[in-house]
Amino acid sequence: MSKQAIKVEHLHKSFGKGDTFVDIIQDASFSIDKGELVALVAPSGAGKTTLLMMLGCVDKPNSGTIYIGDEKVYDNKWLTKETRKIRREKIGFIFQAHYLIPFLNIIDNLTLLPQSNGTKEKVSKKKARELLAYFDIADKEKAMPSQLSGGQNQRVAIARALVNNPQIILADEPTAALDMQRSVAVVKMLKKIAIEQGVAIVMVTHDDRMLQYCDRVMKIEDKKVVFD
Ligand SMILES: Nc1ncnc2c1ncn2[C@@H]1O[C@H](COP(=O)(O)OP(=O)(O)O)[C@@H](O)[C@H]1O
Ligand SMILES: [Mg+2]
Repeated sequence: MSKQAIKVEHLHKSFGKGDTFVDIIQDASFSIDKGELVALVAPSGAGKTTLLMMLGCVDKPNSGTIYIGDEKVYDNKWLTKETRKIRREKIGFIFQAHYLIPFLNIIDNLTLLPQSNGTKEKVSKKKARELLAYFDIADKEKAMPSQLSGGQNQRVAIARALVNNPQIILADEPTAALDMQRSVAVVKMLKKIAIEQGVAIVMVTHDDRMLQYCDRVMKIEDKKVVFD
């Protein structure tokens, strides 16, 4: 097992044809190691979400290669019909809004996905409770999302991204809806997860104050992916 969590080579992405053609990412090649927290910074509309969705095997590149761990999953086409399986087993997503299901309590929000993937209730609940304890919200398992603060809900959203033991977490502006103090708490938590669990994390952020907690800063400049 190598330390590589994600590798892309000559990744290219555009949208549309003719008059509506837009080039978003040109010839991106980089790799991210297990245990790394990488910030992704670029102006609005530069392609951050698009890049994240390609790394998450949601959005299809036009060309290039993508490796998830040591497995080549894309080589000018998906190499598997089951990109869903890759996402489910290897990748956790966190978004700006927490997207918890409002009519399910916290523990049921956490166990919904693993149970729908066939994980036994006992097993998924045990894992969910471990995560809630890890995030200092063990006492909230029966609470509804509306009863938690923004910061607590975002911690639940991070716990949900971790419940399937992913190798990679892709976080799209996870702190955008939080104040400074809660944002720092969330980023420090992501850093801790990266170190302790060897997860590779790519986090989109607009807040330069968060960069000090990240190992590297990835930017999209003139459609090229560069590192600071
Ligand atoms: N499905 C799509 N079809 C056409 N254009 C798209 C699509 N998704 C995104 N875009 C365009 O790609 C560019 C990058 O979008 P996005 O990745 O969302 O940027 P960011 O997350 O950096 O704000 C934008 O100009 C957007 O309008
Ligand atoms: Mg975006």
